[in-house]
Amino acid sequence: MTQPNPGSIPGSSSGRIIGIASGKGGVGKTWFAITLAHALTRAGRRVLLFDADLGLANVDIQLGLTPKLDLGTVIAGRATLREVILRHAGGDFDVVPGRSGSGALSGIDPAALERMLAALRAEAAGYDLVLLDLGAGLDRAVRRLAAFADTLLVLVTEEPTSLTDAYAVLKLHGADRPGGDAVVVVNQATNRASGERTYATLARACSSFLGRAPPLLGVVRRDERVRDAIRHQTPLLMRHPNCPAAEDVEAIVSGLIEVSHTNRPKV
Ligand SMILES: Nc1ncnc2c1ncn2[C@@H]1O[C@H](COP(=O)(O)OP(=O)(O)OP(=O)(O)O)[C@@H](O)[C@H]1O
Ligand SMILES: [Mg+2]
Repeated sequence: MTQPNPGSIPGSSSGRIIGIASGKGGVGKTWFAITLAHALTRAGRRVLLFDADLGLANVDIQLGLTPKLDLGTVIAGRATLREVILRHAGGDFDVVPGRSGSGALSGIDPAALERMLAALRAEAAGYDLVLLDLGAGLDRAVRRLAAFADTLLVLVTEEPTSLTDAYAVLKLHGADRPGGDAVVVVNQATNRASGERTYATLARACSSFLGRAPPLLGVVRRDERVRDAIRHQTPLLMRHPNCPAAEDVEAIVSGLIEVSHTNRPKV
């Protein structure tokens, strides 16, 4: 751990906030958020990874960090958001650790949540991108965080329950933030073609019942090295930089940065 980023260079940062959600638990949100943060950093972007899983925060566990202060300290009023930001030394991105394992923030009152979001919006100005690792489920706090994000990235796997939950996330997002920006990433895909078929199924349901389908941002293949990296509490791009899942996340970052096939601003 080293010191956090020194702050913003006026006018240089977009401060765009991307929320990563899935509805269903265990699809890979935390791993993907970490790997995306790392890949964006390697592409020269200043990134803050915010552990927004208020029930079961575990970005710090996957990264092997042992923070003295965390989001719980901020919500209790004993530290500012900036004071709890720490730098992942190997990955060079900043992290706001959640309150690990206690579930203490899952019942956060709405006013405290809004204060935290206002502080986050202010802090985001110092970064090109902020990634919110959201919790599973669709409780009040998850919905508020998803609607607060500038872009909602919905992670889905090939399992039918993941598809129905991803659809539910997108439906509620449409209600909570009409016209809001959303994108889809298929994770743990058997291969690219099968990942694209999963996306097509979700997109069809969205087009039929919600009137619009979010674009596919990318497909990440199932890869045993993901589990290995998590077990070693090391980012995948450090431990297995050339494996298929790493390649897929790098491709997503290239797409986010280089390609303007959508109307969304590049990062
Ligand atoms: N592309 C992948 N290939 C293989 N395994 C993966 C992949 N992505 C995620 N996993 C596996 O999925 C498991 C769950 O990942 P992770 O904890 O990031 O999910 P999550 O969606 O954040 O879960 P929760 O909803 O509990 O917060 C990991 O232990 C990892 O082994
Ligand atoms: Mg998680």
